[in-house]
Amino acid sequence: MLGLHAMAIGVWMFALPRLIQGQDAQGLGLSFGTFMAFLLYTGMFFQPIETIGMVTRMMNRATSSALRIFEILDTRPDISDIADPVRLEPVTGRVTFQDVTFSYDGVRQVLRDISFDVAPGEMIGLVGPSGSGKTTVTNLISRFYEPTSGGILIDGCDIQQLDTGHFRRQMGVVLQDSHLFHGTVLENIRYGAPEATLGAVIEAARAANAHEFVSSLANGYDTVVGERGHTLSGGERQRIAIARAILNDPRILILDEATSSVDTETERKIQEALDRLVQGRTVFAVAHRLSTLRRADRLLVLKEGRLVEQGSHRELLDMQDGVYRKLHETQRELHEMYAA
Ligand SMILES: Nc1ncnc2c1ncn2[C@@H]1O[C@H](COP(=O)(O)OP(=O)(O)O)[C@@H](O)[C@H]1O
Ligand SMILES: [Mg+2]
Repeated sequence: MLGLHAMAIGVWMFALPRLIQGQDAQGLGLSFGTFMAFLLYTGMFFQPIETIGMVTRMMNRATSSALRIFEILDTRPDISDIADPVRLEPVTGRVTFQDVTFSYDGVRQVLRDISFDVAPGEMIGLVGPSGSGKTTVTNLISRFYEPTSGGILIDGCDIQQLDTGHFRRQMGVVLQDSHLFHGTVLENIRYGAPEATLGAVIEAARAANAHEFVSSLANGYDTVVGERGHTLSGGERQRIAIARAILNDPRILILDEATSSVDTETERKIQEALDRLVQGRTVFAVAHRLSTLRRADRLLVLKEGRLVEQGSHRELLDMQDGVYRKLHETQRELHEMYAA
């Protein structure tokens, strides 16, 4: 680009005085026609050269992008199944942590010596200040990471012996921000159970308090949502995710801040849906607002990666200087401040 401009300026600077002077009687000097032709020829000369430059630049960019893509394709997954993995049919839902220590980066320990045993069907509330390791515990249960030391048992079987895909299909997860993929509401709910009948989908949607708003959409269950589709509110997406989980009928359920960032009325509807979802499953629920965990059979209190207290809401409140008691007080004060 620069070459062409520099050339044009050069040509003009050379030509301008001669053009003004005009041709003399012998026809020497520069005529306007000669000048125009020359200018066009220089353009035609430089354009291919520039194209070559552009192609080189594009090739460079493409090679470095391709390298990055191959890097990702070549990455071995951190979690791989053993040669002859165990398939629990079905998972009953006992979850045991034995002295689990975990670090994401190999330097800082995020969980330290965590041990607990959760019976099938028990609902556990994970509480603790932000950054204490609650989400990390749920990530380990889903086997997104392996513990640095210690063991995790599912129904008494080491999680590392399990067929990960098979195990995850018996788990349900509802997170703070539920993702819908591009497709109809029906497809989104049926995601984990593709052979479910329309009747079963509607039943799940009813239980998730989603049927009402889905029916009011222009195309009902055939409305396209997700990227470039009809936009649903956070609370609506949440209830679709809950319907999906209900239909999938998981044995182990993880709810991580599932009712955060929605208004009170929506929260009530989601809470109702969750109360139906948790029936008869092993549940690990993380909630910022402690009152949402009132149904939990047992609360595990984490602080700086350690399991510092466990017990029912009442038992924990009775502990003088308890971490839970303190958290509870802080929240009550905050609540009163907002109410005032
Ligand atoms: N993917 C990650 N890589 C590295 N560190 C992480 C990662 N996820 C969380 N952490 C760190 O681990 C600690 C515990 O995080 P987390 O389990 O998300 O806490 P909580 O859910 O209780 O707020 C935090 O200090 C956080 O910064
Ligand atoms: Mg978290």
